Amino acid sequence: MRFEYPIVFPLNQITYVGEDDSQFFTEVHGRRFNALSQRYMLPADEEEIRRSELQHRMLQFLFGGKNYVGPVPQVLIPQDGRERCRVLDLGTGGGCWAIDMADEFPEAEVIGVDLAPIQPREVPENCTFELCDLDQWYLPYPSGHFDVIHARSMHTGIENYTRLLHEIARMLRPGGLVILIEPDSEPIADGKSATELTRCGQPSGMRGWFALWEAYRQCLRDKGVDVNVPPELANLVATTGAFDKIVSQEGNIPIGFWPKDPVALSIGQLAWMNYDIMLPALKPLFLSAGMRDWEAKKLIEEAHQDLYYPLVRPSARLHIVHAFKKA
Ligand SMILES: C[S@@+](CC[C@H](N)C(=O)[O-])C[C@H]1O[C@@H](n2cnc3c(N)ncnc32)[C@H](O)[C@@H]1O
Repeated sequence: MRFEYPIVFPLNQITYVGEDDSQFFTEVHGRRFNALSQRYMLPADEEEIRRSELQHRMLQFLFGGKNYVGPVPQVLIPQDGRERCRVLDLGTGGGCWAIDMADEFPEAEVIGVDLAPIQPREVPENCTFELCDLDQWYLPYPSGHFDVIHARSMHTGIENYTRLLHEIARMLRPGGLVILIEPDSEPIADGKSATELTRCGQPSGMRGWFALWEAYRQCLRDKGVDVNVPPELANLVATTGAFDKIVSQEGNIPIGFWPKDPVALSIGQLAWMNYDIMLPALKPLFLSAGMRDWEAKKLIEEAHQDLYYPLVRPSARLHIVHAFKKA
């Protein structure tokens, strides 16, 4: 069992997270949070780890049992006499993706990076976890070092996503693969987004649910997060000029028990469970933004009510992009 894993600060200062990792956490309004960044405002506790696992399983269903999109096995063939290929998972959360990838590609070295040491301590030999705030100008990894870089559901902890994309390009080897997956924070009802419904003057059918997501998006904007990163993902990748063969996909993730198709129903159930855990996790963010306790409670309760008894079919849009670093 490994009880140590590195925390990598810029300038390559490395210390190790030992058995007592309490210094890497802080408490905010009754929930445990990471202590490295005040921008990323979802908890780093057992509930959040459970949510991260649910989200991981849901995406595996969506990708037909796979962990990725794009030609990962072909890219993970060692090049230029190197012994091992390298995979980097940015904002690894509970580390499920990194661990599954390490199991699937035992010849590759997989590193998962996050703000908080919430990953299991017992991991495959070829998997390590490191702590680092990725919201900075220079990331502490060498240029051309990785064959695959994956970043999923983590733009809400990043102020300048374009800067992160430039760092990803720097850290990838030529021909290396980047995989980016970001859910849109704009809610969807019966296939129409909040913006589309407003444009045609239609009510959402889920007022509490929509109000919560608008409040969440405002909190993100106040923290300097660009909420348009998910729908703009492919454009952002293209404008770096560093990537080619950019493939962009969009999926509508059903939320709840309404889909008829059995696979979509499984995805919907897992998404529902994910949001059931996520709604109360937003309370510290709302309180920190200055909302009064009763207001935050009401906002979450009404959204929960809509999640439990939806009058329409809710879903969320997922943006998936993969691309190769130009040779
Ligand atoms: C919603 S979770 C997703 C976890 C995992 N990628 C997945 O898809 O299951 C977002 C994770 O990104 C991490 N994160 C967000 N901003 C970050 C940053 N600036 N630096 C490092 N990690 C960050 C958070 O700590 C959190 O664990």
